[in-house]
Amino acid sequence: MNEGSFPAWLAAQAAERDERGLTRRLVDSDRGEPLLDLAGNDYLGLVRNHRVVAGAVGAAQTWGAGAGASRLVSGTLSIHTELEEAMAAFTGFPCALVFSSGYHANLSVVQALADQDTLVVSDAHIHASMIDACRLARAAVTVTPHNDVGAVERALAGRGQRRALVLAETIYSVLGDAAPVAELAALAAAYDAVLIADEAHAFGVAGPGGRGLLAAHGLTGRPDVIATGTLSKSFGAQGGLVLGLPAVRAHLINRARPFIYDTGLAPAAAGGALAALRILEAAPELAAQVRRNAAILARAAEVAAPAGAVLSIPMPGPHEALAAVAAAAGHGLRIGCFRPPSTPDGISRLRLTAHAHHTGEEIALAVKVLRRVVPRTGVVPP
Ligand SMILES: Cc1ncc(COP(=O)(O)O)c(C=O)c1O
Repeated sequence: MNEGSFPAWLAAQAAERDERGLTRRLVDSDRGEPLLDLAGNDYLGLVRNHRVVAGAVGAAQTWGAGAGASRLVSGTLSIHTELEEAMAAFTGFPCALVFSSGYHANLSVVQALADQDTLVVSDAHIHASMIDACRLARAAVTVTPHNDVGAVERALAGRGQRRALVLAETIYSVLGDAAPVAELAALAAAYDAVLIADEAHAFGVAGPGGRGLLAAHGLTGRPDVIATGTLSKSFGAQGGLVLGLPAVRAHLINRARPFIYDTGLAPAAAGGALAALRILEAAPELAAQVRRNAAILARAAEVAAPAGAVLSIPMPGPHEALAAVAAAAGHGLRIGCFRPPSTPDGISRLRLTAHAHHTGEEIALAVKVLRRVVPRTGVVPP
């Protein structure tokens, strides 16, 4: 093989990944022995719920397998409007706009709201979609250390730009910890900025009846607070959303490229998410059930109880993390593993997720397996 050729370059990249224990592989999760899932983000167990599936099937039968066009052409359907109104009413925001994914929602909100006279102040642990959004916006960006309110204030106070956006996740996707949302919102108000808070891992899990952490702090509906979310985790379907004032929604419809140039959310995803939302509204205790199970798993893994469903267990390195995942699978448990570059601090971690629908027996099995495969720290949190 010619050393400088494209195939040689690919082979060298693959060899380097392998050597560092950082190769990622796609595995069909529905093949082989069924495992108890502590890796996925179906926090409320609604992906296969018969009412959610019926919502998806019914919407596909009514509106078809796809939206058929972008929302601004002919791809806006009444199921989108119904879903947007229901999501806004549930979360306490004046209005919502749905997208084909949470990734697109994040790309859109930052790209459309940031211009050359905007500083974006972004937490160091922010999701990849927000990082890509900053690149797309081509705005000036200051990355602040994780959950460092003082650093956010210094960035806002010292800025030369007229406008500023503060980016945070209300519950972080890898470490599972919560953002200081009340302090960040207070800074946004004090410094004439806007807080954009990603509730992807909080909706359905945190706040009153799963309404998220912004609702828990009474921050929904403020002009300087915008939420984003996904329909692919607690809502058991696919798609994303942005929640805010009507003027924000109108601006995104007119300026957000990932919204304008993308086909509308598939009807099945909208119908499934709407059915999931109705289930959560009727059973608000599901959110507390996730957190109860998370606390039990956290005790077994000897880490602090998380703010939501995500538990993060630091490992000595990527090889050890992979070995723990394989050992857990051998005992019937699927756990996740994040290795660089997917970890914000470069530390390989086991990532476990708690779910509302796991039975007492399943949780007992999970506890038994975790005690075997997770390295002991000797520190048992309260
Ligand atoms: C914090 C956060 N935001 C956004 C997304 C993207 O959501 P989606 O999977 O709907 O594209 C994810 C996804 O996995 C996430 O963890």
